[in-house]
Amino acid sequence: MNKQAETVLNYHNRTKHRLERYAKGPESIDWEDQPNQFRHFSGCEIVTLPKPGTELEPLFVDLDCPAIIQAEPLNLANAGLLLELAFGLSAWKQYGPSRWALRCNPSSGNLHPTEAYLISTGNDFIKSGVYHYVSHDHSLEQRCQFSNNLPESGILIGLSSIHWREAWKYGERAYRYCQHDTGHALGALRYASATLGWSVELLAEWSDDDIANLLGLNRTDDFKQLEQETPDIVCRINTHANDKPLNSKSLLEGTLSGSWFGLADSLRAYHMYKWPIIDEVAFAACKPHTEEHVWQAVRRQVIKSSCTKSATEIIRQRRSAQQFDGRMSALPQTNFYRMLGAVLPTTAAFELWRWPPKVHLFIFVHRVEGLTPGLYALPRTQDALEKLQAATLADFDWQKVAEEIPLYHLYSGDCRQIAKTLSCHQPIASDSAFSLGMVAEFSETIEIAPWQYRRLFWECGLIGQVLYLEAEAAGVRGTGIGCYFDDSVHEILGFDDDKFQSLYHFTVGKPLEDKRLETLPAYGHLNDVV
Ligand SMILES: Cc1cc2nc3c(=O)[nH]c(=O)nc-3n(C[C@H](O)[C@H](O)[C@H](O)COP(=O)(O)O)c2cc1C
Repeated sequence: MNKQAETVLNYHNRTKHRLERYAKGPESIDWEDQPNQFRHFSGCEIVTLPKPGTELEPLFVDLDCPAIIQAEPLNLANAGLLLELAFGLSAWKQYGPSRWALRCNPSSGNLHPTEAYLISTGNDFIKSGVYHYVSHDHSLEQRCQFSNNLPESGILIGLSSIHWREAWKYGERAYRYCQHDTGHALGALRYASATLGWSVELLAEWSDDDIANLLGLNRTDDFKQLEQETPDIVCRINTHANDKPLNSKSLLEGTLSGSWFGLADSLRAYHMYKWPIIDEVAFAACKPHTEEHVWQAVRRQVIKSSCTKSATEIIRQRRSAQQFDGRMSALPQTNFYRMLGAVLPTTAAFELWRWPPKVHLFIFVHRVEGLTPGLYALPRTQDALEKLQAATLADFDWQKVAEEIPLYHLYSGDCRQIAKTLSCHQPIASDSAFSLGMVAEFSETIEIAPWQYRRLFWECGLIGQVLYLEAEAAGVRGTGIGCYFDDSVHEILGFDDDKFQSLYHFTVGKPLEDKRLETLPAYGHLNDVV
């Protein structure tokens, strides 16, 4: 095994929560010292985006078949709408003197380590260059002006992570959460694009160095120490209106010879705890340029949803449930099957994912119509079925229970207490209709390419984003769960090595609203500015 793979596997083991002790994190949290959730670059030209809040016609169910959605023209309003629906604010919450923003993309602890950039190459509605999106103001800060107008090839979206934002609260495990958040952000970008009749193409070949060059993240003097951004991925947005091929080489040359502006404001002056292991794993999981094979699952008919809401409404209403009604009536079976069917690689939501799935679901069913409570599995490929059968407890029965989806019954029994205990004793895992663990094909993947550690978490985040929106469409609500006792989950399933590892949990049920919280409009504050 090479050194980088060893570093990544060590990081993973070291950051496991265990029943007897949690992964290393700060001993105390100073809420006054929370890193600023909104990054600004001072000294840049600001492009104010048209007023947020536009509703589009496509229904959420239309996104099952994106080809039927008429592509919107590429202009400033629609580029802004894409950013808003993917990464913009969805509401403010207020409790007493505390007020906090929620966004269309979720984030562990609402800390939002993901930053988004728009790159324009020779479009007539905005100068060609690199722009940082400020979700709070719904504006763009121009970081780079390309020296020459590049051949017109639409827009790209780049993502990066500020690990410190997450590590401030979660310590060493934070690097994992940053990767989940990137996966959610990709999912959010996919739904936003599909609503506009556009699609997302992951430029997965690019190395991290190339992404850093493009987004200006390697301009170390522009960032305060410990507050730098780490490159994640660049995506091309296909607007289906004479999309021309992208010349990555001339784009990177344009960035290198372009004029750069702005300095990142400090997120917070004081860094009480330091977590050097995060820099170590980030370095070991750094991605080189790669050749990526083209892979695409054959699209299959999806189970129909009865949701009649528009896609923009569902996207903006997405929230995490803080509490569930443990006495809810059972979730209709068709809704359950629809949600699980939606995370299969054969759906439109996974069209952007260019690789065979490596993440499979183990589901604790608590309250689903027509299903005995117990443990179930959803292998997301036929290939994985046998491998999972071989790796799990011999007494699981692996009886297929549904025609429409590859759902297998493993064990009957009330799993509420187990689910709650495994998810760091959180009642959201037991008071729901079902909760689940996302199990990844792990050690072999990392040994072949250590940077794929991140991609496994991204795949989990993408699945999580689909579940969040599907839950809203089914009239219930979801919550991502990053806190769980890793090896206890593996023990329950019978894994005796790290061929498979559980990388993310999720729960869905009937939410209980906290009536003490006031909800305020997402961009009401923009009206206050004279
Ligand atoms: C990767 C990830 C892990 C999360 N883990 C937990 C968790 O363990 N427990 C919990 O109550 N919420 C968890 N959440 C939910 C977040 O706290 C929530 O997304 C955040 O507060 C923002 O709220 P919103 O989702 O309503 O926009 C998680 C979310 C994500 C994306």
